[in-house]
Amino acid sequence: MEKKDMVKWNFSDIAHTYSDETRRRIIPCFDDFYGVGVPELSYEGDSPNILDVGAGTGLYSAMLLARYPKAKLTLIDFSENMLNIAKERFSGYENASFLLGDYTEYPFTDRYDIVVSALSIHHLDAAAKAGFYRQIFELLTPNGEFLNADQMVSPSPELQERHEKLWLDAVAEGGMADTDIERIKQSMELDDPSTVTEQVSWLREAGFPIADCIYQYRNFAVLYGAK
Ligand SMILES: C[S@@+](CC[C@H](N)C(=O)[O-])C[C@H]1O[C@@H](n2cnc3c(N)ncnc32)[C@H](O)[C@@H]1O
Repeated sequence: MEKKDMVKWNFSDIAHTYSDETRRRIIPCFDDFYGVGVPELSYEGDSPNILDVGAGTGLYSAMLLARYPKAKLTLIDFSENMLNIAKERFSGYENASFLLGDYTEYPFTDRYDIVVSALSIHHLDAAAKAGFYRQIFELLTPNGEFLNADQMVSPSPELQERHEKLWLDAVAEGGMADTDIERIKQSMELDDPSTVTEQVSWLREAGFPIADCIYQYRNFAVLYGAK
């Protein structure tokens, strides 16, 4: 099976465990991680056109909707099981649409004021990340903005090892079962995180004149780019 198919299979298989509460237990800095980028966005209207790539159950889109209650939301994910949960989440909201597919290959026709992504792009290898950042730049309107809240790797293997241990210890202390922690470790074999520094440079190379890391907690970080 190709790595991409394994990622898709993995998320389809665990989708039923993906409650917001579980996410909170897995991500130690949950509130900052999902929350810190939203007020940074400079878009001032009330109905931006927003694309959420690797949207999963729609958690990040929900954070965006809290700030922009009239936003037009488009959520893309290649796991139908994940997207079905997002559809339920936004069932009462008529301005949300759902695309089933691989975001690196999808033939987008629309342009977006804001593109966001959480915990998804780290599945792409380095060249694919750099290429996808170029694609996102093209998808954005002239003043468009991009937020990527994701897992990064430390350039220092010692620090990376320590961060992973501290993270998994914190998850265990939060009461997660050993079997679920084992499943997280298995999923990590499908990850291909890059460093913050590399990714900021790829954002700049993609054309973003403004690009930086606006938040970091161990191996969790939020990158921001604006045209
Ligand atoms: C860890 S989940 C995160 C979901 C959501 N963004 C969140 O923060 O809760 C990663 C999601 O990215 C999706 N994904 C990974 N690679 C993808 C790709 N190339 N195209 C579309 N979806 C992808 C997976 O199916 C999964 O739903």
